[in-house]
This record gives sequence, C-alpha cells and structure tokens, in this order.
Amino acid sequence: MTQVLDIVAVVGSLRRESFTRRLVQAAAAIAPESLRIEIVGIGDLPLYNQDAEASPPPPWLTFRDRIRPAAGVLFATPEYNRSMPGALKNAIDVGSRPYGKSVWARKPAAIISDSPGALGAFGANHHLRQCLVFLDMPTMQQPEAYIGGVDKLLGPAGELANAATRQFIEQFLRSFEAWVRRHAA
Ligand code: FNR
Repeated sequence: MTQVLDIVAVVGSLRRESFTRRLVQAAAAIAPESLRIEIVGIGDLPLYNQDAEASPPPPWLTFRDRIRPAAGVLFATPEYNRSMPGALKNAIDVGSRPYGKSVWARKPAAIISDSPGALGAFGANHHLRQCLVFLDMPTMQQPEAYIGGVDKLLGPAGELANAATRQFIEQFLRSFEAWVRRHAA
C-alpha cells in the first residue's frame, strides 16, 4: 500500500476571504489520495524576536511541532509589494530557529504563488525561493506555479472552476508527490 504523505501547507495571507487560501483548499480537495494536505495557521505567531527564545511563546512551539513531522511543505503565497507578505516571512523565521534546530532543514517543498494580477506573484515566489535555498529545503523547480487572475478561477463552492487550471494543479501535485518521495529523509 502506498504511504500517505503528510503535507503541511503554509499560506501567506491572513485575509478571511483569501484567494490564496481558497486555492490551496481547492488543490487539497483534488490532490492524490496519497497526499494529505493540511493548512497550518500562521496568523497567531508573535513577531520573531530572538530574545524570546529563552521562553518561547506557545504559538511558536505549536507551529514548530506541526512542521517537524511533516513529509513536505507546500508554500502558497500572494505578493505584497513584489515580495512575500510579512506574515509568511515571520513564520519562516519562527520555524528556522533556534539556531541548528530549524524545522525546515532538508524538508522537500514546493511553491504556488498567485495574484488577481497577470504576473502571478512571480516576485513573491522568487523571494520565497531565495529563503528556501538558505534553509536547505529541496524546492521543486518544475513545474513552476505562477497563478494569475486567481480571482476568476474559483467557483461559488470554492472549487477550481477553470478546467485548465484544475488540470495544471493536478499535474503540479503529482509532480510534488514524486518530488517529496524522492527527497524523503
Ligand atoms: C497587494 N497586491 C499585490 N498584487 C500583486 O500582484 N503584486 C504586488 O506587489 C501586490 N502588492 C500588494 C501589497 C499589499 C500590502 C496588498 C494588501 C496587496 C494585491 C494582492 O495580490 C491582492 O490583495 C490579493 O488578493 C492578496 O491575496 P489573498 O489575500 O487574496 O490571498
């Protein structure tokens, strides 16, 4: 029997009606059965401050404990001012410390970036990718996912209403599963 992979999804938007979160939820619904994708919250993480490592805020510990056992990480991000939102960068920083105990290290990853605009948050995608290089996360290179016009792709029930996008996301997730299995610790 194929082992089911535990994938955590880190979503870069805190917005209630976030397209990015809805996109991940739609993707999780059509993922292969062998891939279980669960969104982990980042909205309650206090801003990273090294001074607090002496007595870390409980949300930091809960977040690290959830990432640590995961088989892989799916990052999904909108773009703020041609980069990733601060909330996502904060979550990355929280997971990366204390020094030598990063929960990200060697965990296979993939990135989906999205925007209502045409460029699909390319800038955010690649700023994020730069962090993942330093964090030693093998990050899937192909297919790339820059989802433009995201506000027009989701149906009333949150489904991926656009057939081409749906096919693309299915293929993306199949590739990500293979990537995670190849890089399994
Ligand atoms: C944006 N937005 C935006 N879009 C884009 O394509 N490139 C950008 O650089 C920016 N910059 C930006 C900065 C800030 C502070 C905000 C609030 C928004 C628009 C953004 O794509 C849009 O608000 C999305 O809906 C955000 O994603 P969620 O929250 O729907 O997932």
